[in-house]
Amino acid sequence: MSENKININWYPGHMTKARREMEKDLKIIDLVVELLDARAPLASRNPDIDSMAKNKYRAVLLNKADLADPKVTDRWIRYFEDAGIRAIALDARVNQKKQVLKLFLDAAAEKLEKDRKKGILNRPVRTMIAGIPNVGKSTFINSFAGKSSLKTGNKPGVTKSTQWIRPDSRIELLDTPGILWPKFEDMNTGLNLAMVGSISDDVLDREEICYELLKKLHGIAPDSVPSRYGIEFSDDPNETILGIAVKRNIMKKGGEADREKAAAAVIDDFRAGKLGRISLELPPR
Ligand code: G4P
Repeated sequence: MSENKININWYPGHMTKARREMEKDLKIIDLVVELLDARAPLASRNPDIDSMAKNKYRAVLLNKADLADPKVTDRWIRYFEDAGIRAIALDARVNQKKQVLKLFLDAAAEKLEKDRKKGILNRPVRTMIAGIPNVGKSTFINSFAGKSSLKTGNKPGVTKSTQWIRPDSRIELLDTPGILWPKFEDMNTGLNLAMVGSISDDVLDREEICYELLKKLHGIAPDSVPSRYGIEFSDDPNETILGIAVKRNIMKKGGEADREKAAAAVIDDFRAGKLGRISLELPPR
């Protein structure tokens, strides 16, 4: 894949605005919860969060864990915990309120204890969800808020129209997430984001992404292609795409294999978990 396909300008005007808004909201926040894609926690992380959320309590939700290899996700949880950040695996579409509340309360235990010592018993932990586009922020906020949560009105110092969700007397969650932008520190980061669907397909060549995805799957999930498509998994991605097109009868009008459509089908299958629960990244040693 050529370098310029990945080197997209990911800091357009609306991102500058998003950062400003997030910085403003952060002033009144105690706990910052990063939502990451469990299949690619490094690529879906914006390292700027460390400076933006300095002096805040922190936690990580490894979302879309239903699509990731559970053993690898466990390793990621340990990785973050070793770095002093509590983390749990999550499927944001499902309400996991109990585990999530426990995570938030554990992460901000020090604040609650400090308040208790001062005799302050009714100041909830003000919490913000942050993450790059498409990691599942809105899905999470909706399912976490649930029907039983109390929505509280505007408060001074918070972006107009901001509301708090009160799932518990000790937690107040901003109903609008902080939007971070993906950082392409290297080619692999860009590719992983493209594979999990965090970069618009309009700006990347699907055939190229599929080619790179198949190269990766050949190494980390050799059973994925044979069990889904019933073909042998060649180490030559071109051959595999062709094999899938033929097997699935994905042909152009003249009877020639439609590689582009076959590639798109493979990417969709991967993103939907139809190739198995696969993690693209392992924690660094
Ligand atoms: P964002 O606010 O961070 O931008 O993300 P959003 O909640 O819009 O979620 C992006 C997509 O990811 C949605 O799918 C959503 O359903 C899906 N999603 C979120 N969390 C999870 C999860 O834990 N597991 C799985 N498998 N999917 C998740 P979509 O294709 O845009 O819409 P739809 O197909 O759900 O209608």
